Amino acid sequence: MQTLLKGKHLLREQDWTNEEIETLFAVTTELKMRYALDLPTEWLKNKSLFMLFFEESTRTRNAFECGITQLGGHANYLTPKMTQIDHGETPKDTIEVLSRMGHGIGVRNTFVNGHKWMEAIAEFSKIPVFNMQCDIWHPTQSFADLYTIKEKFHNELKGRKFVISWTSAGKYMRPLSMAQSLVALMPRFGMDVTLAHPKGFELMPEPMRLARENAARYGSKFEVVDDMDEAVRGADIVYAKGWGPVMTVGDDEAAGVEMINQNPGWIVDKRRMDLASPDSIYMHCMPADRDIEVTSEVMDGPHSVLYDEAENRLHTIKALMALTMGNTMAQR
Ligand code: CP
Repeated sequence: MQTLLKGKHLLREQDWTNEEIETLFAVTTELKMRYALDLPTEWLKNKSLFMLFFEESTRTRNAFECGITQLGGHANYLTPKMTQIDHGETPKDTIEVLSRMGHGIGVRNTFVNGHKWMEAIAEFSKIPVFNMQCDIWHPTQSFADLYTIKEKFHNELKGRKFVISWTSAGKYMRPLSMAQSLVALMPRFGMDVTLAHPKGFELMPEPMRLARENAARYGSKFEVVDDMDEAVRGADIVYAKGWGPVMTVGDDEAAGVEMINQNPGWIVDKRRMDLASPDSIYMHCMPADRDIEVTSEVMDGPHSVLYDEAENRLHTIKALMALTMGNTMAQR
């Protein structure tokens, strides 16, 4: 167990060792048990968390906000418009000032170069920076997902088939970050990962490189297929969500939506779940487009662990804050 995590940023999963992630999960279990028993957990009394959202959120915002409250602290909800960021104040000046006032900052910025913006913040920050989702990674979600899988399979992950499949959700172009975080993280914990998507919906080179390298290093497998039936056959974990063809059309929303709608039928339904292992679980980071990405029958059916997965955002995020915030002034 690693105890020296005070002040540590979480920008992407790869910056945390497996041992550090296991420490996070041990603290998560303690916090989850205390939550169930309604026991006090005021481990960050009077600490302030800044939550800077460039985009909307249900789960991430409320997991951080409820989480810091339950830990005895307070959250400041910020947007570019509520701050001077909209008037061009730089990441350096913003974070130099916030570092003098609070104890941690979470940022959601899924625009192209959102990750670069977070890196600029982190470079000058004296307090831990949490990636609440960017254009490349979504680490607080993938940690909650991994924790959920460990719970459901009693920590026996070696050789489990983890499928992350694209779905035809054509309302708008979703970021690639969820799929990218999953393919890079899951092979590190022994799972054999299958990525499925139609042509044109490729992921970025860096997460793909990490997926391959991590699979080789940890003795697991990583494959890419273009057929959803083939992907889910024999799967232990079926995780399916849409993303835009960003690597093909850049940020051209209209062209991206058109491409999504040219690939209908990528949906998780009962027929597909019947191809998976009988004990398989169905996952989605949410929000899920009901009866577009997944049928309601599956979402509300016996394989679905959606709401447990969403609840685990709270517990894993509390553990993240408890381990990294606190008396970071002492380390300056
Ligand atoms: N899964 C997830 O990040 O949900 P929100 O967009 O609601 O935060």
